Amino acid sequence: MPAKKQTNKLKHVPRGAPRPRAAVLNMAPYSPPTGNRAGNLRLDFNENTVGCSPRIIEFLKQQLTPERLSIYPDYATVRPTLAEFFRVDPAQLLLTNGTDEAIQVLINTYIDDNDEVLLLHPSYAMYRFYAEVAAANIREINYREGSLEFPLEELLAAISPSTRAVLIANPNNPTGTAVPLAGIERILKRARKAAVLIDEAYYEFCGITALGLIPDHPNLYVSRTFSKIYGMAAMRLGCLFSQSANVAFLHKAQSPYSVNALAALAAQEAIRDTAYVENYVTEALAARELLCVGLEKMRIDYIPSQANFVLMRIGKRSIEIRDRLREKQVLVRDRSYEIAGCVRVTVGTREQARRFLAALGEIL
Ligand SMILES: Cc1ncc(COP(=O)(O)O)c(C=O)c1O
Repeated sequence: MPAKKQTNKLKHVPRGAPRPRAAVLNMAPYSPPTGNRAGNLRLDFNENTVGCSPRIIEFLKQQLTPERLSIYPDYATVRPTLAEFFRVDPAQLLLTNGTDEAIQVLINTYIDDNDEVLLLHPSYAMYRFYAEVAAANIREINYREGSLEFPLEELLAAISPSTRAVLIANPNNPTGTAVPLAGIERILKRARKAAVLIDEAYYEFCGITALGLIPDHPNLYVSRTFSKIYGMAAMRLGCLFSQSANVAFLHKAQSPYSVNALAALAAQEAIRDTAYVENYVTEALAARELLCVGLEKMRIDYIPSQANFVLMRIGKRSIEIRDRLREKQVLVRDRSYEIAGCVRVTVGTREQARRFLAALGEIL
C-alpha cells in the first residue's frame, strides 16, 4: 500500500556492503502512512470501512487446528471454488498474494531490462514500483487535465510494437474515473505485443469487467482483490485471470506458496456471503452520493467517481486539512504531490460520510 515517494533516494551503500542493482539504487523508497490507523475513521486506504463479514471470522475459528497450520497451503479446493465464482476455468486463474503480487508476477513474466511499460498518471503506485524494480523503460500517459478522464486516444497513440505491458486500474485510483469495455477492446487490439493488465480492485462499485473478454484476447490479464469490498486487506489475497496458456507461464514465475492457507480458507467463506457484499455496495454508493452532495454544499469541487472513494479539489490547504482531520481521528489521503490541491476520501457508510462532512465543515 504505497504512499507518496520520498525525495531522498537512499543511495548510500555502506562500505564493504554489496551494491544493489542500479534499478533499485535509483528508486525512491515508498513509505506508506500505515501506522496507528486502527480505531480512527479510516477513509484513507479505500478499504472496507466496517470490516469483513463476521462469517469469515467464525469460519476461520472453526477450521483452524494445529495440524492445519503445520501443513503447507494446498489450493486444490480454493482454486476451483473461486474459478466457479468468477465464472472462469480453474486453469485461467492464478491466486496471488494480493493484487500487488499479481502485478509483480506479470512484470517478472514479461518484462526484461529496458522493455517499454506504459502506465497512466496518476494511478496505483505499485505499477511503477514493480516496473522500476524490473528496470523497465516506463512511459506515462496523463489522465486528462481537469476532468481526470481516461485518456483513451492518448494511450492508443502511445502504444507501439515495442510496448511490452500496459497497466490500467479500472476504475482508477485515485481519480475514480473508468474506461468502458469498448475502450479496453481498442487497447487490446492496438497493443497486440503487450500484456495488458486491467486491475479491477474496485469492480463491485462500478460494474465494468473485462473478464468476459479473456477468451477472445490472448494479451488480456484481469486482476481482482479481496482487500477492498471483502474487507480482507490484512489477508493479502488476489486473483489474476488470463487465458490458460498465459496462466501457465505466470505460474512458473510465482513462488509456490505465496498465498497463505488462512487467506485461501477465508476467501471461500467470503464468496458465500454474497448478501454482505451486496449490502456494502448499496450502502457505499448511497454514502458516495451523500458525500458528493455535502461537498457541493460546501462548494468543494470533486471528480465524479465510479469507485468507493472520491477525489476532492481542496486547494492550497490540502495537507493542512488532512492533518486537521487526523486530529479529529478522521484519516484521508493527501494526493497533492501528484494532482495539485487534491485529497482522496474513501466512502463506507452514510453515517461515516456524515461524520467526515461534519469534521470537514468544522475545519473549513
Ligand atoms: C487500483 C488498485 N489495485 C490494487 C490495490 C491493492 O490491492 P491488494 O491489496 O490486493 O494488493 C489497490 C489498493 O489501494 C488499488 O488502488
